[in-house]
Amino acid sequence: MELVRAAEIMATHPEHQRLPFPDAYGLGGAFSNDQFGPLIEASVPLVDCGFMHADAVYDVVSVSRGMFFRLDQHQDRFARACGAILVKNPMDREREAEILHKIVALAGLKDAYVWWAVTRGLPPGGRSEMIDPDKFEPRFYAFASPFVWIADDEQRARGMDLVLSRERIRISPRAVDPTAKNFHWLDMQMALFEAGRRGGEWAILPDEEGFLTEAAGANVWVVRNGTVLTPDTGCLLGITRQSVFDLCAELGVSAKATRIHGDELEDADEVFLTTTAGSIMPARSLDGRPIGGREGPGKLSVELHNRYWERRWEGWDGTPVRYELAQT
Ligand SMILES: Cc1ncc(COP(=O)(O)O)c(C=O)c1O
Repeated sequence: MELVRAAEIMATHPEHQRLPFPDAYGLGGAFSNDQFGPLIEASVPLVDCGFMHADAVYDVVSVSRGMFFRLDQHQDRFARACGAILVKNPMDREREAEILHKIVALAGLKDAYVWWAVTRGLPPGGRSEMIDPDKFEPRFYAFASPFVWIADDEQRARGMDLVLSRERIRISPRAVDPTAKNFHWLDMQMALFEAGRRGGEWAILPDEEGFLTEAAGANVWVVRNGTVLTPDTGCLLGITRQSVFDLCAELGVSAKATRIHGDELEDADEVFLTTTAGSIMPARSLDGRPIGGREGPGKLSVELHNRYWERRWEGWDGTPVRYELAQT
């Protein structure tokens, strides 16, 4: 089965054509410091604890063919993340959604990467206030840019070259809760540099006992004997991950979340990654060895990828962008 070239479709299909937008919005639209504006002009005060201490939670939802995908699920996850780090979202749910719609609309985007965050905000006056979460004034930021691909059409079609990190582990959930999507990225970024040095394109991180957690910015999946498996702990509960469970149910393929040791990758039939920024990304090699004794991506990975995009473009859990908000 040929991989659906989703990036090419986004670039060429008339239903994906960007609406007219002011020149300044070329990079996208944003909301920062309580104002809408072009992404290129958005800013964060240097002393915002989000910037200084990675003290923030965020989420990313995508838009394709003018529709948000699973916006409610992203907003639910974001609300839980705010609760987990004791930060009060200054926006209520409706206002949050309206801001997300408007930043996409301002930039006329039909396919977008839509990021938003609540940071702890500026540090309160005295050091003694640092121990009281109610003394902070959290701040809300958001931007929408053209759709982002971790792996482009070519990489997804031929399969990515992955590396299981030997130098890094994913931070322990007891240190930073990975289910509250957060700014802690150094373990993943350093693992990506390791992947680059070892001839790979992306990195998977184990935990301290060698069990798989997730990849940098993506969930990891293993297909073995017709069953699709993904780690049950130590990772973000990805919305694309949930979508894979849903697609597997539709296809009658068994799928489950479980512990997977790094050593088990050796007899994997297929491996793939999932994330909002790039969808379902089939892999062809791990640590320089072909996966499943085959060149190229696995059949089921490609089938899931294609079905994901077909279903999305049919309107699966879609919310049409309110483009009229650009005029308000
Ligand atoms: C660490 C991490 N794991 C997994 C994911 C995948 O989550 P989702 O499918 O909701 O984008 C992301 C997304 O950015 C992530 O940052």
